[in-house]
Amino acid sequence: MQEENPRGSAHGHRPTLPEHKPVTLRVNGTAHQLSLAPWTSLLDALRENLHLTGTKKGCDHGQCGACTVLVDGKRINSCLTLAIMQENTDITTVEGLATNGQLHPVQQGFIDHDAFQCGYCTPGQICSVVGLVNEGKAKSIDDIKDLMSGNICRCGAYVNILKVAQEALERAKTT
Ligand code: FES
Ligand code: FES
Repeated sequence: MQEENPRGSAHGHRPTLPEHKPVTLRVNGTAHQLSLAPWTSLLDALRENLHLTGTKKGCDHGQCGACTVLVDGKRINSCLTLAIMQENTDITTVEGLATNGQLHPVQQGFIDHDAFQCGYCTPGQICSVVGLVNEGKAKSIDDIKDLMSGNICRCGAYVNILKVAQEALERAKTT
């Protein structure tokens, strides 16, 4: 009897792909039960399965920050983590920041400081500023620049993004 080759047969048959797995993701306070291929990135699960397209795909390689979301309040590049690894975490996307129809102060800050042009990097920048404040490591302008350096803005809106981040850190000190 011929042994089964998990990589596919010598006659060029395609290998059998693993089954999709049930995955529960808690996003913006709501639990969603999904069936995902195990290699699905959190970014693809958010955009393609949950249709939360505020989170952007730039490089898909951890180099631009467009896909930044918050996991348990801290920033991650959602293109670099598998959805299946984020069960039992609290995921917040840009869609989950406003409350009762009121923009999050950091979202408002981007408008007030005119901190975007095309807007493609903006959801990631906004989540990154919120995470920066939560993480509590930025103490100076240089710290902000350093800790926000993973979020690339091809329009070069950095000066005004920096103002939003400074303001958010100041606000955190007084609340
Ligand atoms: Fe994730 Fe660029 S899309 S870092
Ligand atoms: Fe265009 Fe940042 S506003 S990439």
